[in-house]
Amino acid sequence: MKKIILTGDRPTGKLHLGHYIGSIKSRIELQNSGKYDEFYIMIADAQALTDNAGNVQKVRENILEVALDYLSCGLDPQKVCIFIQSEIPALSEISFYYMNLVTLSRLKRNPTVKEEIKLRGFEESVPVGFLTYPISQTADITAFEANIVPVGEDQKPMIEQAREIVRSFNSIYGETLVMPEAIVPKSKAQSRLVGIDGKGKMSKSLGNCIYLSDPEAIVKQKIMNMYTDPNHIKINDPGKIEGNVVFEYLDAFVKEDSFRKFLPEYNNLDELKAHYKRGGLGDVKIKLFLNSVLQEILKPIREKRELLAKNPEKIYKILFEGSDKANKKANSTLFKIKNAIGINYRTNI
Ligand code: TRP
Repeated sequence: MKKIILTGDRPTGKLHLGHYIGSIKSRIELQNSGKYDEFYIMIADAQALTDNAGNVQKVRENILEVALDYLSCGLDPQKVCIFIQSEIPALSEISFYYMNLVTLSRLKRNPTVKEEIKLRGFEESVPVGFLTYPISQTADITAFEANIVPVGEDQKPMIEQAREIVRSFNSIYGETLVMPEAIVPKSKAQSRLVGIDGKGKMSKSLGNCIYLSDPEAIVKQKIMNMYTDPNHIKINDPGKIEGNVVFEYLDAFVKEDSFRKFLPEYNNLDELKAHYKRGGLGDVKIKLFLNSVLQEILKPIREKRELLAKNPEKIYKILFEGSDKANKKANSTLFKIKNAIGINYRTNI
């Protein structure tokens, strides 16, 4: 069977380290492995509008920002098809038919949507488009016949709902749609990078992010202000590792050669942790080490981004070419879907 991958992001902000470690990095590894037949990455502007009807400018601007983040991290439009959701009309049409296969009560039960409704304070005033976005997300996935959908842990209920719609469609209209499967990050650090304040997941709304596009000095400043262990006051005090943001980041980002390059008096993270727990290791030292580790990752991304940002027309050209390619695929699936349903009047009178 063909291996078709589809994933996407809502363009509501620039991408940060949580996105990098949780998804972008593994997308690049997947891309470079070459072990797939088709690979689609969608900038989900239409989905972003479901709770941003009055914020179109924000969504518009962030399409370019997200595309810049993708490309500067190393996603290669020669290998992956990057496109804009609203450029693909077949997605709306497909959603329209899927709406008949889902009940209102099922939509209301989706735990991720439920949580998002609560977070946004929608209560009874939730926009219909927002409540039903799992249906349009099913259209996104199935239109490309994707069987592999790399997503964060929070998106698992979406894929579960997509699978139900596929099952229902295929049982009513005959085997047509491809069954998708979610692949989620392996480790906790990957699936849930804590914010710099240690209070919750890194997220734009909590204002606790390090953005991929942050200047060097800002990254350093954010690291120097990171939450560590409030009881580790004097250098000789024993320190705590659990809940210490610096160590959580080191767990996520340290590479094999990081110690040799930046902190050769330790061989590995275990030694560093042991010293911190014992006492005698100051926060400034571990923060400066983390700064070296992160700057090494971020520097080439930042430099490439600055270069690419000089030519927004080039970025849009990539997105439009991707969208043209994506349209061909989605239209061909729409044709199959209409045939299966039996609303193919022009080709079968
Ligand atoms: N809902 C996803 C998010 O918020 C974005 C998205 C839209 C998506 N369509 C998708 C992800 C299809 C995977 C597949 O992150």
